[in-house]
Amino acid sequence: MSILILYLSKHGTVEEVANTMKNISGEHVDVRKLDSQVNGAVIDKYDVLIVGGSIHMGKAPQRLIRFCKSYSHFFKEKKSGVFLCTLTDPKEAEHYLSETFPQEVIEACHTTGLFGGAVKYEKMNFMERSMMKKISGKDKSFSRLDSDRIAAFIESF
Ligand SMILES: Cc1cc2nc3c(=O)[nH]c(=O)nc-3n(C[C@H](O)[C@H](O)[C@H](O)COP(=O)(O)O)c2cc1C
Repeated sequence: MSILILYLSKHGTVEEVANTMKNISGEHVDVRKLDSQVNGAVIDKYDVLIVGGSIHMGKAPQRLIRFCKSYSHFFKEKKSGVFLCTLTDPKEAEHYLSETFPQEVIEACHTTGLFGGAVKYEKMNFMERSMMKKISGKDKSFSRLDSDRIAAFIESF
């Protein structure tokens, strides 16, 4: 079975999660940034499609939202999954899934994932760093990624 994980990541958490899945899975996994080179011909080579991103200022990136709308048929044709990284606790972040992915995509997915998130101050610009220090009350980078949820998600494929 071959798995394609497409990701969009601002400061590296989603990319880290995608690579963790690749390392855990016993299957053939390709991890690829969701850029303009990704098209139907690329996706069609795989049995499984997984797409992930993160929430910034209450929203996922437009590229991710547009991609899932345009390629919704692939989520139905293949075994598929979507996931998000957020600093909001996974138990309270369900609404981000329905705000990011079309209902038909969520319904077609084999599974969906909310994994928590991480703050990497060294990757942020001045504004982002100041804002995040205020919100989190923390001066140093930290991770609230839920490794059990990540493992359960990829092992379900
Ligand atoms: C400027 C900024 C805004 C953010 N806004 C939100 C938010 O509205 N809701 C939330 O749950 N997490 C928010 N986060 C947390 C990110 O979703 C989290 O850090 C995630 O791990 C980022 O992943 P990435 O670096 O791969 O993009 C924000 C982070 C930053 C830096």
